[in-house]
Amino acid sequence: MTDVITFHIDGKEISAKPEQTILQAAALSGVYIPHLCAYKGLVPWGACRICLVKVNGRFQPACTQPVVAGALVENDTPELNEIRRALVDMLYVEGNHICPSCEASGNCELQALAYRLGILAPRYPYMFPKRGLDMSHPDVMLDHNRCIKCARCVRASRDIDGKHVFDFVGRGLGQRIAFDAEQGLAGTSVSAEDKAMSVCPVGALMNKRVGFAVPVGSRLYDRHPIGSAIESSK
Ligand code: FES
Repeated sequence: MTDVITFHIDGKEISAKPEQTILQAAALSGVYIPHLCAYKGLVPWGACRICLVKVNGRFQPACTQPVVAGALVENDTPELNEIRRALVDMLYVEGNHICPSCEASGNCELQALAYRLGILAPRYPYMFPKRGLDMSHPDVMLDHNRCIKCARCVRASRDIDGKHVFDFVGRGLGQRIAFDAEQGLAGTSVSAEDKAMSVCPVGALMNKRVGFAVPVGSRLYDRHPIGSAIESSK
């Protein structure tokens, strides 16, 4: 087996190790493939499908698909971006995302993707689900209204923090994040320093008492579009 294989993304030759995914190889070569549930250092989850690409003409999620020698991968195409727009749109209307009043605005990957994909208004009707908050913990909080079920916190808490504080309960629209304690967040061992607290792509899991430490207008995606060279190096 060779140590390095090559394939193409939108005509650009990419070198990769056989054990890498298309998303990993693309990132290392400076090619941005939009994604939400994937996060560097976490095991691939394959849930959001934002990273959908075409590999030799077939749809595949780039975050779980291993690289294939000689493959022709399509990424930044009108067809794929239209699918991504629909997926982001669905995430917006399925939850309650009130960007102007969210502390994550400007640092939110969902919001930044919507901007990048040119979403100006929802195409689907809002569902306005009734969801709550858990403010019981002295240092951290969870707003179920903003959770997009990417499972980053689940994986980070389980695999990096070694705590497995979070997991999912329910199915479909009723699915939500739950804790390893019946009393809610306050009964768990989660702390503000946990990796799980820094990987949330939206404003669902947040530390308390840090609101507006960075003013709106000066935040990451206020200054650099998601997927830009500067943002990708963060
Ligand atoms: Fe690949 Fe979510 S980033 S499925």
